[in-house]
Amino acid sequence: MMCQKLKLVIRFLLTMHLISESISLVELKNIKCESLDEEFSTFDYCYLKSVNRSYKYFSLRVKLLKLPVTNAKVNGALYQRLNGYKPFLYNITVDACKFFKNQKSNPIASYFYDAFKGYSNLNHSCPYNHDLVLDKLTAESLNHHFTKILPFPQAEYMVHMNWIAYNINRAVFKIYFALT
Ligand SMILES: *[C@@H]1O[C@H](CO)[C@@H](O)[C@H](O)[C@H]1NC(C)=O
Ligand SMILES: *[C@@H]1O[C@H](CO)[C@@H](O)[C@H](O)[C@H]1NC(C)=O
Ligand SMILES: *[C@@H]1O[C@H](CO)[C@@H](O)[C@H](O)[C@H]1NC(C)=O
Repeated sequence: MMCQKLKLVIRFLLTMHLISESISLVELKNIKCESLDEEFSTFDYCYLKSVNRSYKYFSLRVKLLKLPVTNAKVNGALYQRLNGYKPFLYNITVDACKFFKNQKSNPIASYFYDAFKGYSNLNHSCPYNHDLVLDKLTAESLNHHFTKILPFPQAEYMVHMNWIAYNINRAVFKIYFALT
């Protein structure tokens, strides 16, 4: 377990160095939200809005129907598009209740969470007893985070997330974006 974690951290640091030269721009392509258990949670909304070419954002709201939620995990995997989407570098599962108690416990999760924390109300530990909201996360803020701090190779990507409560996968969230 520890060994796996260490490997991930080393890979993360290596990647950071290897590809830190290219500067690219994030273009949001699409988002998809799917509830796998409508008695547990539903999406009030989930959309990508294009105001104009340069100003796009996405928002979503998850209604939690079995409150309070005291056990939650998030599995996130990054895919790169080649011939279809192939797993790329990261696939991590984070115990959300533990992570939000101590964000330093998981530097990789912390890195990804930092990208959207200013736009969400996820920022506390369990129990969750309210709707979960992500409000107007812009390409620009993702740009700042992912290309100035950690540039990836130019390509199309997808982040696939499973939202797991009490060890059952309740919802799937996918965000598609390109680095150009
Ligand atoms: C795009 O929309 C934003 C927000 O309304 C505005 O501030 C910006 O000037 C627009 N950009 C272009 C190129 O029209
Ligand atoms: C990521 O890991 C989870 C749990 O170990 C596994 O079920 C899933 O298939 C993996 N996804 C990818 C893209 O490798
Ligand atoms: C969570 O975010 C809200 C809104 O940005 C803020 O008011 C609150 O203090 C934050 N809570 C924690 C524990 O950081």
